Amino acid sequence: MSGIKSDTAIKLPISFILCALVAFVTSLFILLVNSQELLAGQFRFPEIWMGAHFLLLGFAVMIAMGAMYQLVPVAFLTPIWNQSFGFVQFYVTVVGIIFLSIMLGINPSLAIYGGILTVIGILMFTFQMLKTLAKRKENTAMSHLVLAAILCFLLTILAGLSLTWNFAFGGMANHSSILYSHIAFGVAGWFTLLIFGFSYKLVPMFSLSHGASMKRAKPSFYMYVFGLLLLILSFWLNQSFIQPLSWLFLLIGFGLFALDIKEILTKRLRRKLDKPFHFATLAIINGWVIHVAAFFISLFHIDDPVIWSWLIFLYIFCWIIFSILGYLFKIVPFLWWTHKYAERIGKESVPTLKEMINEKVSGYLFIVFYVALFGILISTSIQSGVTLFFFLAILTVNGLLYALSIVAVLFK
Ligand code: HEM
Repeated sequence: MSGIKSDTAIKLPISFILCALVAFVTSLFILLVNSQELLAGQFRFPEIWMGAHFLLLGFAVMIAMGAMYQLVPVAFLTPIWNQSFGFVQFYVTVVGIIFLSIMLGINPSLAIYGGILTVIGILMFTFQMLKTLAKRKENTAMSHLVLAAILCFLLTILAGLSLTWNFAFGGMANHSSILYSHIAFGVAGWFTLLIFGFSYKLVPMFSLSHGASMKRAKPSFYMYVFGLLLLILSFWLNQSFIQPLSWLFLLIGFGLFALDIKEILTKRLRRKLDKPFHFATLAIINGWVIHVAAFFISLFHIDDPVIWSWLIFLYIFCWIIFSILGYLFKIVPFLWWTHKYAERIGKESVPTLKEMINEKVSGYLFIVFYVALFGILISTSIQSGVTLFFFLAILTVNGLLYALSIVAVLFK
């Protein structure tokens, strides 16, 4: 009986993760074939919308969902409310995301139908998580972060649905304000708050750290959420002084989170951090630098949409996607090892957790991700189409190798 139960329990997160890896490689390939639009700084373009949603919904959201199905029961000591409902939610979400992303690329006026299906899948996921979290024993800074992230997720999809409605039927005058709010709620609200929340659990766990105060978790949360609300307000009120102020609060919130993580790491027992974990924590420094840049760019009232588009690109890749890529290399081996070997330990010879991944290979993959991103940035600065294509090709091939090395863990 327990065998059947644990099989079901692992099938759900693994299904999400495998689909997400396919979407990841697809999104990189779409960016590659549209390198000319990127070179021109044109992000509001159907093919780029398609690539962006394969990346953000198909990859990042699917990973977040798979990880939450696995981590929420561990972190909050409560079982998932309903596993079968989870599988229905999985299929609805996958079909919805594929349909939405493809339609955004080839016929945006039909994207609303994929959008409705995606929103239903996401609402089912939210319902499942709220039902699960309702059974938690205590309220912590982490539960605040996760709940606020889920709320931002709902606002993101509401705004997204309005945008697709406007493509199909028109009638909404504030399309740009809705789009900016959609992006801010999605990337800074949903993803950032979720990564904050899970980092408070994962960083001590992976570095074997005890006794850190985590005293900045609450002020960081309030500062970041307040900054986010101010930022959204600035999109609707068009008051130029609000934006630098909002970035200041976002920067302070992010900085407090980074200081907490630094304190956790200084109190760690495991002196040598492994490469995937190193990569995930390095993403925090990237995130902080990008917040500093955004603050100064808004302070000097630089409104060039190309600069802001590239900043959002870097925010998404170097903070959100790099965090996910780093943690995934830790979560999947842990998940698979626990499923396959935890019960056999002591009875027969089983591989160690460390033997589940090829650390050396992961190190090369992570270095190449940085080289590719750096190359992409330099190529656009000097407006070189050839080198941009070259570095995007490196990013795509490296993404494929990354996906294959995660899949390889499941054969151990
Ligand atoms: C966490 C989920 C999501 C995130 C992080 C996200 C993020 C983004 C980003 C960054 C863009 C700008 C892309 C670009 O300019 O190339 C965008 C545009 C857009 N998104 Fe989303 N999105 C999410 C979910 C959705 C959903 C569920 C829908 C539909 C129901 C949607 C509909 C749209 C549309 C129609 C646009 C293009 C609007 C325009 O440029 O005029 N998004 N989204």
